[in-house]
Amino acid sequence: MPPMPLQLGRTLIDRERIRARVAEMGRALAADLTRELLQEGNGQDALNHADRIVMLPVLTGAVVFVADLIREMPMRLSMRVVTVSSYPGASTQSKGAMLRGALPSDLRGRHVVVVDDILDTGQTLGLLRDLILEQKPASLRIAVLLSKLVPRKVEVKVDYSGFDIPDEFVVGYGLDYDGFYRNLPDIVVLEER
Ligand code: IMP
Ligand code: MG
Repeated sequence: MPPMPLQLGRTLIDRERIRARVAEMGRALAADLTRELLQEGNGQDALNHADRIVMLPVLTGAVVFVADLIREMPMRLSMRVVTVSSYPGASTQSKGAMLRGALPSDLRGRHVVVVDDILDTGQTLGLLRDLILEQKPASLRIAVLLSKLVPRKVEVKVDYSGFDIPDEFVVGYGLDYDGFYRNLPDIVVLEER
């Protein structure tokens, strides 16, 4: 059967609401990470000099979100990337998660923040969480812009979530359909024609 014809529908979350919420999330993350570093006992040194915090966006969907998020975090941090694919091609159904390429191998002892666009079945973030924990990071946090209100296939504890959304397929602000629409500034529902 040919794929269902789809078109852009209503705006679910506009750019102003995204901007405000991402700013809140960045501030919360920065405050929590700062507290954690100070508790480690190395004082301002840890904050200013050590390479302790690693942001780990999940490509490709998290690129827009992470770009805005890190600019709300005025602190010393570095960034790695990881690629996971779950929707190969023109599909709106999850087909399970697959790591593409290697996970960064220097996460041991660091405070890792995984950043993804959306939590849906939980397979992507469940897989990444398990693989990252094998490296024994100092801590692991997960931040997602969106959480879909659907039953999870894999339970994942998300530490920072921007918005709960209904079970609809959305695009924009980094989220794609078949590789397109990532550049839309708002989050928009993709509807059947
Ligand atoms: P999960 O593994 O099912 O939790 O799916 C997570 C991944 O599927 C996300 O990182 C997205 O790339 C993709 N995804 C899930 N729902 C949507 C959606 O509504 N629009 C676009 N991509 C989605
Ligand atoms: Mg993704």
